[in-house]
Order: sequence, then C-alpha cells, then structure tokens
Amino acid sequence: MSTVLPTLPLGRKNPLIGDSSSMTDQDSIKSSNITAVESRVTLQDRIKRSGHSGGVLWFTGLSGSGKSTLATELERRLFNIGYNVYVLDGDNVRHGLSSNLGFSPEDRTENIRRIGEVASLFTSAGFIVITAFISPYREDRERARAAASEDFHEVHVKADLSLCESRDPKGLYEKARRGEIPDFTGISAPYEAPQSPEFTIDTGKLDVEKSVTALAEYVAANFIQQQD
Ligand code: ADX
Repeated sequence: MSTVLPTLPLGRKNPLIGDSSSMTDQDSIKSSNITAVESRVTLQDRIKRSGHSGGVLWFTGLSGSGKSTLATELERRLFNIGYNVYVLDGDNVRHGLSSNLGFSPEDRTENIRRIGEVASLFTSAGFIVITAFISPYREDRERARAAASEDFHEVHVKADLSLCESRDPKGLYEKARRGEIPDFTGISAPYEAPQSPEFTIDTGKLDVEKSVTALAEYVAANFIQQQD
C-alpha cells in the first residue's frame, strides 16, 4: 500500500440503513412493514482493513468504445497493487441479474437502476467498483450517481461512432446497419454523452496501456490508500 493520507471520507452514511440518501426513493418502495438492519461492521472498520475507501467508477460510452477492455485491465492493475476492486460489465450482467431485460429505453433504465444500486452496495462493502455499461441516458446515470452519493465518478470512455463502427469487435454494428438489431445505440437508438464527467478517456487518441495508466493515476488521486 502507498503513503499515508490522513483524511479518509469516514463521515459517509451507511446505505443499508433507512435514513441514507443512497436508498431508493422512498415513494418507489413497494413493500411495507420493512425495517432496515444496521451493520455491526462500520465503514471505518472496512477502510482500516483494506487501506482504502470504496466508490464507483462509472464507465459510459458507445459499444466498441473500449469500456470492457479498460475496465478489466484497470481491475487487474488495481488488484495487483492491493485494491479491493470488482468489475460489473453489461454483457455479463445481462446473462444474470438483468437477463429479463432487453434494449428498449425502459429496459435500459431498469438495467442501469439495478447496476446503480448494486454498485452502491459494493461501495458500502469498501470496494472500488468499475461499471462498464453503455448507459446511454443522462437521467439514468444521474440516478446511479444519486444511489452512490459522493463516491461516484463518471468516466466517459470516448470514441467517435465511426471509430467504434470500424472496430466492431462483435460484428454488431454491421448487423445493426443491416437492420438485424433494433434499438442499437448510435445507429437506431440515442447516446447522450456526459456533459461534465469527472474523467474522460479518449480511446481514439490513447492506446490501452496509456488509458489504463491514466485511469490508475486518477484512482490513486481519488481513492485514498492508507498504511497501518
Ligand atoms: S445499456 O444500454 O443497458 O447500458 P449494456 O451496456 O447493458 O447496455 O449492454 C450493451 C451490450 O449489449 C453491447 O456492448 C452489445 O454487446 C450488446 N447489445 C446487444 N444489443 C444491443 C443494442 N440494441 N444496443 C446496444 N448494445 C447491444
């Protein structure tokens, strides 16, 4: 672990208890007669053990922009130097947690709502969670930000549509152009680029190695590591 930095964000509320701003909006909770349980492991306990604070690195960008590649490379890099880190990736999550969702605007909104909540839980567990989802709608990303409160960092993985289309790693743009995939982001469905992301990686200009280095530096500056 690297140098001691004394000011840890210890004042953050535990999202598992009822008064936290990171809980789902009270009006949208269907259940009644539910009482939240307070953890007996504090955030301070977790930070003391892991040596760093948790939070969300929310990657957003077009299909083929490099989100998954950078997320998994960054995860490996951070894991190797001692961070608790985990990637939530769109294609993977759509095989499980979101397997009942498609790509309509409503389904994407629900997908991102779920991931925002899961990412918030990982943050509470002290993890740095890297999410790699197109997450095309600003409003959905803002809801995910609200779920994680101050520990949320929006990262725009930026590449022009023409570049993503020329990469076409899964052959999906070609299919979408042929009309074989409806609601395809960038072709027949919108992508609302972030207006003021905390960080931008232009994968049209930087290769994978340089991109991951820039991201790792961002993490080092924003997620405090502490030695015992
Ligand atoms: S999101 O819009 O709800 O955030 P998500 O990131 O989970 O999307 O899934 C995107 C991945 O699903 C793409 O990388 C691509 O492999 C695949 N995919 C399949 N159909 C579509 C579509 N219509 N639009 C975009 N991506 C699609």
